[in-house]
Amino acid sequence: MDWINWDLAINRKYYINMNKPFTTVSGIILAAFIFSGCGTKKNDRSADVLLNRKVDSVLSLMTLEEKLGQLTMYTSSWDVTGPVMNPKYREDIRKGKCGNIFNAHTVEYNRELQKIAVEEARLGIPLLFGYDVVHGHRTIFPIPLAEACSWNLELMQRSAELSAKEAAASGLNWTFAPVVDISRDPRWGRVAEGFGEDTYLSGCIAEARVKGFQGSDLADSNTLAACVKHFAAYGAPVAGKDYNSVDMSEISFRQDYLPPYQKGVKAGAATVMASFNDLFGVPATASKYLMTDILRGEWGFTGLVVSDYDGINQLQNHGVAEDAQHAGELALTAGVDMDMQSGIYSGYMSRSLEEGKINIAAIDVAVRRVLRLKFRLGLFDDPYRYLDKAREDNIVYSDEIMEHALISARESVVLLKNENKNGRKILPLSNPAIIAVIGPLADNQLDMLGSWHAAGDHARVITLLEGLKRKFTNSEIRYAKGCDLYSDDRSGFKEALDLAKKSDVVILAIGEDQEHSGEAASRSIIDIPGIQEDLAMALIETGKPVVVLIMAERPLTFPELNEKARAVIYAWHLGTRSGEALADILSGTCNPSGKLVMSIPRNIGQVPVYYNTKSTGRPFDQFYKYTTKYIDVPNGPLYPFGYGLSYTSFDYGNIELSDTIMGKNDTIKVSISLRNTGNFDGAEIVQLYIQDMVASLTRPVKELKAFKKILLAKGDEVTVKFTITIEALKFINGNLDYIAEPGDFKVLIGPDSQRLKEAGFTFRYN
Ligand code: NOJ
Repeated sequence: MDWINWDLAINRKYYINMNKPFTTVSGIILAAFIFSGCGTKKNDRSADVLLNRKVDSVLSLMTLEEKLGQLTMYTSSWDVTGPVMNPKYREDIRKGKCGNIFNAHTVEYNRELQKIAVEEARLGIPLLFGYDVVHGHRTIFPIPLAEACSWNLELMQRSAELSAKEAAASGLNWTFAPVVDISRDPRWGRVAEGFGEDTYLSGCIAEARVKGFQGSDLADSNTLAACVKHFAAYGAPVAGKDYNSVDMSEISFRQDYLPPYQKGVKAGAATVMASFNDLFGVPATASKYLMTDILRGEWGFTGLVVSDYDGINQLQNHGVAEDAQHAGELALTAGVDMDMQSGIYSGYMSRSLEEGKINIAAIDVAVRRVLRLKFRLGLFDDPYRYLDKAREDNIVYSDEIMEHALISARESVVLLKNENKNGRKILPLSNPAIIAVIGPLADNQLDMLGSWHAAGDHARVITLLEGLKRKFTNSEIRYAKGCDLYSDDRSGFKEALDLAKKSDVVILAIGEDQEHSGEAASRSIIDIPGIQEDLAMALIETGKPVVVLIMAERPLTFPELNEKARAVIYAWHLGTRSGEALADILSGTCNPSGKLVMSIPRNIGQVPVYYNTKSTGRPFDQFYKYTTKYIDVPNGPLYPFGYGLSYTSFDYGNIELSDTIMGKNDTIKVSISLRNTGNFDGAEIVQLYIQDMVASLTRPVKELKAFKKILLAKGDEVTVKFTITIEALKFINGNLDYIAEPGDFKVLIGPDSQRLKEAGFTFRYN
């Protein structure tokens, strides 16, 4: 192969490029570098120092135009996910004016593009290939909000690992994930991509995902570089409107929104994406405070920052940049290294340099970060390392990935209601002779993939109907659509009702399609769309047992239906193996164990409704008027954070603490007994919350600080143990210090954020 082996070039003190000899000047610079001995590997020289020297050696060969090309990324024409497009990206690659491509995948296509970069561009620097591998690449796992309901960190890490394996086999080396934006607003369509409302849980998942995507070696051809996004606070747009401004206190920002990004960075994420929104009056893309002071200064991040799609250009719309050139200067100075899609760095930064608005050092720093990532991914050793057709054929849709998609889908399901009537619960189903499968989502492949489903192929999706047919082989399965998702045509009701009347049980699949969630899909009303709820009510009125499956990507409001239905399952959009997972749950082959990571409101007016509120000066009291509440709706959500049922039941004992006094360097051991008192083996997610009773600032009534998912056979009992350290007591105080203050604390443990046992201890500095 004609490609330069950089290690070889450096170690053997010579440099070859059989295709394109370099200019004399660059050759001399490289030679100077090599003969100064910098290229030799010495034991006492860290890998990092060596890597930086390799980077510098490449940098020294580059023209300004090539440097700006490395800071530029364009979408391929395959999958355009934003407002602008550069149709001549192939030509730009050839000219060294584009060093990175996204939305291109498959070995065949990416090899074609890589070949242009490596064999036709002057320097032959390999391309990065990015894509939104958010919950799977070809094999699709449940949407992240659903998978988070598993509270199973190992499982979520494994999903990321397998997504990376499949995506890397398809020619990718960079995923724009995980999405770690905390959101308390289900109007915002992108709650689907994140991990819910809680800071601690989201942080744990952020860490698991980064580790899963990246593994222990970025150069491993089964891993991808991760991208923690959208930095920062993108999940809190005013009124839940995507791309809208974010306005919050610095304390809330640091306390509630920042930690998951930090955890992702700490876990080693190679890249971070700047968000679209403004915060504290400054668009994130132009915020030196975020991109440099916090990210690099406070957290020590050394990786690459990429803008979001056209984000640099949009600084003009934000009204902070006079023109495109000014926008580029703001972003680069703030610390955004790579320009996704606006073409502003490559188009204008040479003029900014000439005019003295930016300096070459700022460009070089950013280029170094890009080159560093390419070295770390092993692309300089072999630019085709992710481009092996045979490997792609073997890995895509392989058994291990497909198997995990099923495991993950099962664990994501949340059982909300399973009413006991005449001593019998409707679920699990016990061999009904005739099952009516009804609803616009019951035989729907595409929507089960969910939003941002990368290169997922809907033709591979097993629908609910198909899953039930495969599972209930002794039952007669009949199907009627009933109605469409969004029309008001009731002509299908009759067929559905007739079918219900002739059946033993009705399985009803209603909800949203995947287009109604994700990016640019905010809703002002979050009910079940169209006439689906009317269909549900009519079916319930037949007197037949109806199991309602809500297939959606955000908490929807459905209080009346919830009241009337005997069984309700939050079935999300579960990915490629949706139908089989749901059939396993309905049949009882699998006992549901998911618990909500976002509260389900009773109505839209309650939003934002979340569990870790403050108590206020007039805490909620149902019987006293002048307290913090609405007069037209109960105070809490329909279903709270942490809630989810099982086919079995669990009894919690009392909390035992190893001590009631905790010093600064001490820990408190907490234990509680848990017994499976029902008739099924099952998994319970035991949640531990802390309340700081008196502090220098108002503190939430409770905050999740630990959890354990315990698998327990029926009749068995275990003691669940936790350790409380000072970390669980810390918060951001009025000086923005992260501290624990002495005083009394409550420990609360239970099956969700409302049904909790309590104990107390005192924290002292000594
Ligand atoms: C815009 C989205 O906000 C971001 O999450 C995504 O990675 C890019 N488009 C690229 O598709």
